[in-house]
Amino acid sequence: MMKMFLSTMPGMNKISLLCKFVSFSRFCSTRYRKKPKYGSRYLTDKSDIFSFNAWDDVEWDENQEKEAQNKVNVNSIIKFTQDDIHKYESDADKYWNAFYDIHSNRFFKDRHWLFTEFPELNDNSSEEKKIFEIGCGVGNTIFPILQYSTNKNLKVYGSDFSSKAIEILKESPEYNTERCIAFELDATELIWKVPFDENSMDVIVLIFVLSAINPDKFEQVIKNIYKYLKPGGLVLFRDYGRYDMAQLRFKPGRSLGDNFYARGDGTRVYFFTQGEIKQMFEDSGFQEVENRADRRLQVNRGKLLKMYRVWIQAKYQKPK
Ligand SMILES: C[S@@+](CC[C@H](N)C(=O)[O-])C[C@H]1O[C@@H](n2cnc3c(N)ncnc32)[C@H](O)[C@@H]1O
Repeated sequence: MMKMFLSTMPGMNKISLLCKFVSFSRFCSTRYRKKPKYGSRYLTDKSDIFSFNAWDDVEWDENQEKEAQNKVNVNSIIKFTQDDIHKYESDADKYWNAFYDIHSNRFFKDRHWLFTEFPELNDNSSEEKKIFEIGCGVGNTIFPILQYSTNKNLKVYGSDFSSKAIEILKESPEYNTERCIAFELDATELIWKVPFDENSMDVIVLIFVLSAINPDKFEQVIKNIYKYLKPGGLVLFRDYGRYDMAQLRFKPGRSLGDNFYARGDGTRVYFFTQGEIKQMFEDSGFQEVENRADRRLQVNRGKLLKMYRVWIQAKYQKPK
């Protein structure tokens, strides 16, 4: 699970690991280096494939899609029983608490894509601004925002339904209550108890969180997001895409439903298409600003392995 979770974070490499161990600081200086938007290395000659560790914006042909769908068909044949499906739903927060109990905040994620893909999070104005992250975990997005923003009038809110994650986040030396408020919230609840008003958020962040939620509850979550965003406010979304390596690696017996799985540690993951994201947000009244598939080919040059990653990245705006 740990390996898979780390591998969702593009850009994890030996240099960043080394950086972690030589520095006692949580953030090493190269961590948020600027990277050209939409990737920078393209595989034009297939014989070059093992010359670099990763290729950006790789095209998938029809055959590759078919093969991927076949793998999904195979790993989805055996479904959990209704009792198990219910247990994964009712104990979802407990599985995440257990995850954070084991891993605390030790996973180092080289999120160099954060500000390149979402420049909206790098706020250096002096205007009053409010950002709210749902499923913030231990603060891997919130802390970089606070660290890099020079805006004294920026307030960042973070919520998660894992009490353990919020506890770890609040114990961090970077947690500054003048600029940040973290609290427990199950985002699937009908009525949110939050420390701010409706129509008050400039930005709501969903990074690798909707995938951890039962698809039957997506609509409810998005409705509440709409309620709390200001008119003109933005949702920033990045999450697993359909046929990502993590999906194709599931063995039969882990399927909870279409494209929805339980990992060995009980945490769950859904794999989205661009079309699903579009439909969900537009049906709830949002307007599309961006919706794209980030397809990357990661290569293990030693073992000559090819790993196709797919993430969906999207931005939706509440009409002004
Ligand atoms: C894959 S982790 C991502 C954490 C963080 N966004 C990050 O990128 O580091 C998914 C997070 O979603 C949280 N989560 C899952 N279901 C949730 C729910 N219904 N309400 C709030 N948080 C939830 C989990 O506790 C976990 O922290």
